[in-house]
Amino acid sequence: MGKHDLSFVCRECGAAHRKWAGRCDACGAWNSIEEDAGLSSAGPASKSLGKTKGRQVELTPLSGAEDAPPRRPSGIAELDRVLGGGLVPGSAILVGGDPGIGKSTLLLQAVAAFGDAGAKTVYVSGEEAAAQVRMRAARLGLGEANVLLAAETNLRDVLTTLEAEKPDLVVIDSIQTVWADNVESAPGSVAQVRAAAHELTSFAKRRGVAVVLVGHVTKDGQIAGPRVVEHMVDTVLYFEGERGHQFRILRAVKNRFGPADEIGVFEMTDAGLAEVANPSALFLSDREEETSGSVVFAGVEGTRPVLMEIQALVSKSSLGTPRRAVIGWDSARLSMILAVLETRCGLSLGGHDVYLNVAAGMRVTEPAADLAVAAALVSAYCDAPTPQDAIIFGEISLSGAVRPVSQTDARIKEAAKLGFTTAMMSSKSAPPSESPVRGIGMSTLAELVDRLTPAEQGTGSS
Ligand code: TYD
Ligand code: MG
Repeated sequence: MGKHDLSFVCRECGAAHRKWAGRCDACGAWNSIEEDAGLSSAGPASKSLGKTKGRQVELTPLSGAEDAPPRRPSGIAELDRVLGGGLVPGSAILVGGDPGIGKSTLLLQAVAAFGDAGAKTVYVSGEEAAAQVRMRAARLGLGEANVLLAAETNLRDVLTTLEAEKPDLVVIDSIQTVWADNVESAPGSVAQVRAAAHELTSFAKRRGVAVVLVGHVTKDGQIAGPRVVEHMVDTVLYFEGERGHQFRILRAVKNRFGPADEIGVFEMTDAGLAEVANPSALFLSDREEETSGSVVFAGVEGTRPVLMEIQALVSKSSLGTPRRAVIGWDSARLSMILAVLETRCGLSLGGHDVYLNVAAGMRVTEPAADLAVAAALVSAYCDAPTPQDAIIFGEISLSGAVRPVSQTDARIKEAAKLGFTTAMMSSKSAPPSESPVRGIGMSTLAELVDRLTPAEQGTGSS
């Protein structure tokens, strides 16, 4: 190995290093750097190209129309939506998620559905024996499904088999168990995962086979091993859910062939994963009546409006630095809302512990949730329930203005479907005229605070 070979690699971010270190300079992770024996022998990066001339490739003009990629729907609507309308032949898909969340169950159901829709499907399990997979399939009622099984971890054997069988879809469960015999490190190491993912994605492109790679996520939320797998594939889906909750969310975080941010909602039952066609109803099913600090936010996930409950609890703090605990939302964004409430509305929570939770284990990333979060905080602080029949959405600026957000009509339509009659939102937008939902427009956060605080309590006086 030459002196200048980069032969250590960070397990978290995939950065290459010349020597071992306790901390990765690139991402700041501790104890994540490991020897990367495979990279220097298998990776082209470390070898110079030498004097041999390359072949001249044909250049084509950018102009000219291309047909939309052909799609193969599975018939599982929640899955097809996340894929952007179905599976694209020749695409590589990574499905990540915590161990035990239901990835194998989902993909077994998916291959069975694609198989029944006429595709030739192969399910390669590196984690379970064929008999175990068969037992699981039987339990899921898929015993007769049109799926070919293999229990194999050797990449060379897997590729040879796939070249011979020419399937339409192959699932590799999981990428961490597959190992290439030309790479010297252990299965699951960065070098192995990268080599296997690279070989399998090039196979997908070369043969027009859709390849799904299952990847376990480490506890800090990264696909174990390198994030480089995410860059190699066309589509990255995460399968998420909370322990103790039955429902699971399949979320597209990257998709070359469809919208990112799209979600599919499933429920884990005794007979496997069932589709949830109306997630809003499910997410709101445990909502308590007339509780302060609870509001309904009308969000949009991908192309679909979803209602969810945001809960806040505000209590007097005995700590020098009051506690701020957030589940399902961005804590920096919470600090911003608290600062705006204090500076623009004179509502100081500086001496209070603040807890914020998006119910049912959902995770919200939209700024449109600002107004709902503020309403939950104000309602909790004043111990005054918000109107039960109202949904809330809107973005808050640092000046305390309430800004309109996209897809107002879709949010309101979803609210009307679930029996809500009012929508608190920016005064710059309004419900469609024929809608049964009445709009309560507001241009500043202070207007919301006035509306929610009981008259005798007031914000400034006491
Ligand atoms: P699994 O698909 O093996 O998870 P992963 O591949 O992500 O590690 O799912 C395992 C969990 O799902 C396990 O705790 C049992 C549960 N489960 C059900 O509740 N119902 C079912 O029909 C099946 C097959 C699994
Ligand atoms: Mg599994």
